[in-house]
Amino acid sequence: MSVPMLDLAPQNASVKAAVLDGLAGLMDRSSFILGEHVKGLEAELAAYAGASFAVGMSSGTDAQLVALMALGIGPGDEVIVPTFTFFATAGVVSRVGAKPVFVDLDPATFNTTGALVEAAITPRTKAIMPVHLFGQLAEMPTICAVAAKHGLPVIEDACQSMGAKGWGKHAGQFGEMTAYSFYPTKNLGAFGDAGATVVRDSADLHARVRRLRVHGMEPVYVHHEVGMNGRLDEFQALVLRAKLPLLEGWHEGRRKHASWYHARLAKLDGGPFVLPKEVVPEGRHIYNQFTLRVKDGKRDALQAHLKAKGIGSAIYYPICLHEQPCFQDLGFRKGQFPNSERAAAEVLSIPVFPEMTEAMLEEVASGIESFYGA
Ligand SMILES: Cc1ncc(COP(=O)(O)O)c(C=O)c1O
Repeated sequence: MSVPMLDLAPQNASVKAAVLDGLAGLMDRSSFILGEHVKGLEAELAAYAGASFAVGMSSGTDAQLVALMALGIGPGDEVIVPTFTFFATAGVVSRVGAKPVFVDLDPATFNTTGALVEAAITPRTKAIMPVHLFGQLAEMPTICAVAAKHGLPVIEDACQSMGAKGWGKHAGQFGEMTAYSFYPTKNLGAFGDAGATVVRDSADLHARVRRLRVHGMEPVYVHHEVGMNGRLDEFQALVLRAKLPLLEGWHEGRRKHASWYHARLAKLDGGPFVLPKEVVPEGRHIYNQFTLRVKDGKRDALQAHLKAKGIGSAIYYPICLHEQPCFQDLGFRKGQFPNSERAAAEVLSIPVFPEMTEAMLEEVASGIESFYGA
């Protein structure tokens, strides 16, 4: 049996009727931009996150970009970001003309910590952008305490972690603003690009984000500042609204599979590889990815072995951001972030999508065992 890394077909089938019905309504009304579905989704997302506001954006990247713009971050400023993350987290910092200042990670979580962030603060630091990688929160209490001590805003990158919890709170309730991505591979995925900027409580930031989303315009054709076209399509909002009521079930499906892998692969855990652990107190890992750390330089060989058996896997991410060609002029060097560089060499994500059957999980687990002759 082959097992893909991700199969969206069953999930799409579960919302097909609602989406097609909604699409017919959209076509009849010819209302495609910032209409009732975007408005409705924004209210539903804010309620889900336990935050005051949410603004539908064209992607997770634009959701982060607009947050930096709303804080007025620009040339000469520094923003602290992890080096082990998807490119967008640092890309948006450069896009506003500021400098991404990279930090290392805690090997137990793949996420950064308050201590690592504090060591990177300079007089030019204007914001901190921790990432909740793979579905588990970064160490938010210490990060927020450091931010408060230095008077800095926090933008959470929850692009992989909508619905993740920790310390009794939701992703979106810690930082001033939070970015969600609805890229199709996320736990809540659109039928194309989509995202949202959650604003925890500031009505001013909310108004600024909304205005920046439409070229800094308010009212129509009066432009107070140069913004962007970051609007979310009505169609994507309608898809997301159809899926949102099912999201908790999908999170739980992923968590069930994670427990299954833990039970099934317990004998090898801590030996040739390390399984991801839920370490956040009062927390919930939502397993956007189930990511192993493969030791002894065997990651690529294990991936090739699984591929030969028809089992999908993926490497998120093989190159740290401080080693990316486009960031070579920032002054960081190879070896500076050893835990991140080690993670980039060791990580392998295996299938964990909610609709997997036990037979599929068994295929993945026995594929891994066969590599180690277990
Ligand atoms: C950690 C992280 N940040 C930012 C993004 C950007 O989101 P999008 O692809 O929706 O622009 C993603 C998604 O791919 C991500 O995983």
